[in-house]
Amino acid sequence: MKRRKKALITGITGQDGAYLSEFLVGKGYEVFGMVRRSSLPNTGRIRHLCGGSSPGVNLLQGDLADSESIFRIVMEIRPDEIYNLGSQSHVGVSFKEPEYTADVSGIGTLRFLEAIRMFNLEKKTKFYQASTSELFGKVREIPQSEKTPFYPRSPYGVAKLFAYWTVVNYREAYGLFAANGILFNHESPLRGEEFVTRKITRGVTRVYLGLQDCLSLGNLDSRRDWGHARDYVKAMWLILRRKKPEDFVIATGRQHSVREFVEMSAKKMGIIIRWRGKGLKEVGIAYKIGRPEIDIPEKGRVKEGQVIVRIDPRFYRPSDVSTLLGNSKKARKLLGWKPEVSFGQLVEDMIVSDFELAEKEAREKSVL
Ligand code: NAP
Ligand code: GDD
Repeated sequence: MKRRKKALITGITGQDGAYLSEFLVGKGYEVFGMVRRSSLPNTGRIRHLCGGSSPGVNLLQGDLADSESIFRIVMEIRPDEIYNLGSQSHVGVSFKEPEYTADVSGIGTLRFLEAIRMFNLEKKTKFYQASTSELFGKVREIPQSEKTPFYPRSPYGVAKLFAYWTVVNYREAYGLFAANGILFNHESPLRGEEFVTRKITRGVTRVYLGLQDCLSLGNLDSRRDWGHARDYVKAMWLILRRKKPEDFVIATGRQHSVREFVEMSAKKMGIIIRWRGKGLKEVGIAYKIGRPEIDIPEKGRVKEGQVIVRIDPRFYRPSDVSTLLGNSKKARKLLGWKPEVSFGQLVEDMIVSDFELAEKEAREKSVL
């Protein structure tokens, strides 16, 4: 019988970890996930893959800030593939916890690459690094490709830059199969609620049902190249299928502002927004209310003229990335990868899922 390939995923409890583990289980892999200790369960996104008599995913205790746990896991599993998705992944938080971010998102990658060398797995283990469009930061070129110079704008971006070059260096110095996927923003109903897209879809659906008055946001004019996480985890796997390790930009090639994300989300709920005022005084008003575009009962609580978006300076960053737009021609050509989900479908997927959550919450609070 053919031996099943072993994949080890760090960050398995996160958005991408959940989609990737489902994808790899579907491909017949034996999947192992490194999970860090938390005071409350943090495995909600992968619960369906962990239980039962033949679990799809096996969990192991470890932390990217702890070399020994990493060495023990790599020695025990001797994985064929490592997907290093674990990270302090919030850019805003990285300004508040720069040292921790550097340790986990920067040095954490080095710890794994050293573990591969320490156990003589250079010829066996392929390594995928969750690199990021944040590396481009204050962009030097539009759109950004594998050849665009980097200019990170946050402690997170700088930590990921260290990880990026460490991967390149270990590939060149020791012949490791190690590759960076430079992924542009990707979202889904499983996205953490503190990232702007999910904050918007959670907020708009809750405002609709009267569970909150309005949504507070920071920079509405930031532009991002947003794709769907389900499409992007497939690219990670394809990157490790190549004969030679190389780095790839993964992006849709289309860009929208945070403001447009809000407008599209509200429109799905039948609300047309108009913006009034400038800077910190700017507000988003429910200008017109019609039929929702998604299949839900028309029982919204929003009134025409109601302020549903406000600006809160707490959500501004000391230095922000104002625009990102990816050129993924290389991935399309060499990996045969392309995004399947459009921007409109992504927003709809998130709104539908968050409306269900909001409805449940409203029922529990007897608002409905
Ligand atoms: P996410 O939802 O925030 O998940 C991050 C994961 O890292 C979680 O499983 C988290 O565990 C884990 N983690 C955090 N600190 C850790 C530590 N000290 N030791 C071990 N694990 C730790 O992030 P994501 O959106 O899935 O992104 C996956 C990766 O891709 C990250 O490295 C991110 O920086 C990178 N990336 C993301 C995007 C994007 O748009 N989503 C784009 C480019 C690159 P807990 O559940 O315990 O918190
Ligand atoms: N989080 C957040 N919350 N962002 C806001 C808000 C808000 O209330 N209001 C405006 N924004 C703006 C941010 O200033 C930023 O310009 C943009 O919305 C996107 O913010 P996030 O959704 O937090 O994502 P990000 O682009 O900073 O980082 C994400 O994408 C990177 C890839 O480019 C994360 O997933 C990173 O881990 C990833 O590397």
